[in-house]
Amino acid sequence: MSDVNLEVQRSTEDVTRELREDVREGLSATQKWLPPKWFYDARGSELFERITELPEYYPTRAEREVLRREAGAIAAATGAHTLVELGSGSSEKTRTLLDALAAHGSLEQFVPLDVSESALRAAADAIAADYPGIGVHGVVGDFTEHLGVLPGTRPRLVVFLGGTIGNFLPAERAKFLRSVRDVLSEGEWLLLGTDLVKDPGTLVRAYDDAAGVTAAFNRNVLNVLNQRLGADFDPDAFEHVSHWDPDTEWIEMRLRAKQDVRVRIPGAGMEVTFAAGEHLRTEISAKFRPDGVRAELADAGLALERWWTDDEGRFGVSLARAVQWGHGMIE
Ligand code: SAH
Ligand code: AVI
Repeated sequence: MSDVNLEVQRSTEDVTRELREDVREGLSATQKWLPPKWFYDARGSELFERITELPEYYPTRAEREVLRREAGAIAAATGAHTLVELGSGSSEKTRTLLDALAAHGSLEQFVPLDVSESALRAAADAIAADYPGIGVHGVVGDFTEHLGVLPGTRPRLVVFLGGTIGNFLPAERAKFLRSVRDVLSEGEWLLLGTDLVKDPGTLVRAYDDAAGVTAAFNRNVLNVLNQRLGADFDPDAFEHVSHWDPDTEWIEMRLRAKQDVRVRIPGAGMEVTFAAGEHLRTEISAKFRPDGVRAELADAGLALERWWTDDEGRFGVSLARAVQWGHGMIE
């Protein structure tokens, strides 16, 4: 018998209320924007999985290479009883860690947390079936709000993979890392995946693939607004844009209006106009440098213990330990 349970932190009404607030704020701004978490309805989660298999989208393969190579070392260093995964999605790569922790003999529980209920249910069920000896406790929730509810025997290893940390703005990122540190006891662990700065051509192509899957993923956020708020966006009236900003060192995904567009969004009580050529920012995906990662972790009270990259140096994985405030700080 597999042992799986799912905890849903937010009702459908809560989710719709949050979306309404985000839409009111983001679409009434001078430079329009939406938070990236709204990509991930069931179709958005499926599109993301297709992105991970695209030839242009190297981060998933590069991170998997590191996890395969280092999972044994991670299990030995942490001896984790609980593996908590934030923004877990399909948890495909995470199986490498589950295997290593199970072989090490310490694994008792897996706690995936994701906003996408469909992705979380599918992953939790599949993992519970394939790892009958461990408890699977899924949390449908927001990793910026629901970290306080994470269960599990200590020591816990929290993993945040895929480079999703790059989807925060810098101030949000600092706040998020501090909130992770706050839920850990001293000596517990964070494993963090970060995509690294590299030549702009490779980066722009990773977010603008030839098959148009990323474009469909990007436009899908408009379908989410249509479905949840009764908006009347025509996604085809917007062009997908992948833009590298060398100053901030992030990729910006945008939707650019092909012509003047007027949209009604009854669920948010608004009408929005886009001038031809106007941009809506849908995501940033920050790219990192090793020293920056170490410093940001230290600022949050997380001391970097190990740093690995794939053989081509495209993607970094950090293993950090929660320390007493001040101890992980850079001199
Ligand atoms: N970790 C997986 C998936 C990365 S895609 C991998 O490495 O392949 C980003 C995941 O984070 C999606 O599954 C999405 O649903 C989830 N997500 C995005 N914003 C979130 C939020 N605010 N709270 C919780 N999950 C979020
Ligand atoms: C989830 N996140 C790390 C992905 C990224 O690369 O920033 C989301 C994504 N956006 C477009 N392609 C993939």
